[in-house]
Amino acid sequence: MIAILGTGRMGTALGLNLAALSHKIVYGCRDPQRTDIVDLLKKTGGNASAAAVDQACAACDMIIIATPYSSMSDILGAMGNVGGKTVVDVTNALKMGEDGLMVMASDSSAGEEMQAAKPTAKVVKAFNTVGFHVIANPKITGGPVTSLLAGNDDSAKKEVGDLANQLGLETVDVGPIRQAQYLEGMSALYLTPYLQGRRDDAFEYYLRTGSKPVESKGTRPAG
Ligand SMILES: NC(=O)c1ccc[n+]([C@@H]2O[C@H](COP(=O)([O-])OP(=O)(O)OC[C@H]3O[C@@H](n4cnc5c(N)ncnc54)[C@H](OP(=O)(O)O)[C@@H]3O)[C@@H](O)[C@H]2O)c1
Repeated sequence: MIAILGTGRMGTALGLNLAALSHKIVYGCRDPQRTDIVDLLKKTGGNASAAAVDQACAACDMIIIATPYSSMSDILGAMGNVGGKTVVDVTNALKMGEDGLMVMASDSSAGEEMQAAKPTAKVVKAFNTVGFHVIANPKITGGPVTSLLAGNDDSAKKEVGDLANQLGLETVDVGPIRQAQYLEGMSALYLTPYLQGRRDDAFEYYLRTGSKPVESKGTRPAG
């Protein structure tokens, strides 16, 4: 069973599609009895349930965090002990800048803060550069979409990558959780056409793999 913390745009899109793929899911929320949550359960179908955040986390080996960065300390406190579990971090540590575009709200990233707060959890940054409307239906983009993955545990990244593939997304592993700061920066770029009212210029990230350096001395970064 997969816990999804947050029943907003991302939590709902992930929940509906994962349940449709026959995954059992539990929405972790502040008030599982709330009318909109009851309605969401009806819409998600028999594979879904709702519970308080700590109960949802205790019941699952994979937990997807789809809540705002501003709620992160609340959520991390409510989750309880998630040692050994895969924690999928969808969040972006962003805030509105003076020019109306996003700036980082963290000196590092939400992903790194989460891993530091839950050191024995296997935090994987994923889905954070993919819009909720694309998660809901990747086909609307008319082409492939990549979810980049960052995390310290390779088997957890593989597990999350498999899930992303099931959801119709391609994946690229970009290394350890410290790379989350760049992925969260990419989400600021992703939002730019929307924030500037240029929806026709909206884009998706698609990373094509396959370049193989021909040099035998290996790859050397520029100084
Ligand atoms: N929207 C996107 O396209 C998109 C794409 C990539 C990544 N993200 C990231 O995904 C995260 C969620 O975005 P969203 O657009 O889905 O947000 P949203 O629609 O505003 O939904 C946020 C959800 O978080 C819940 N929440 C807030 N504080 C909480 C707390 N202390 N305890 C439990 N639940 C809490 C809210 O519950 P209530 O209803 O009870 O307030 C709501 O269900 C953000 O970090 C965002 O950066 C979003």
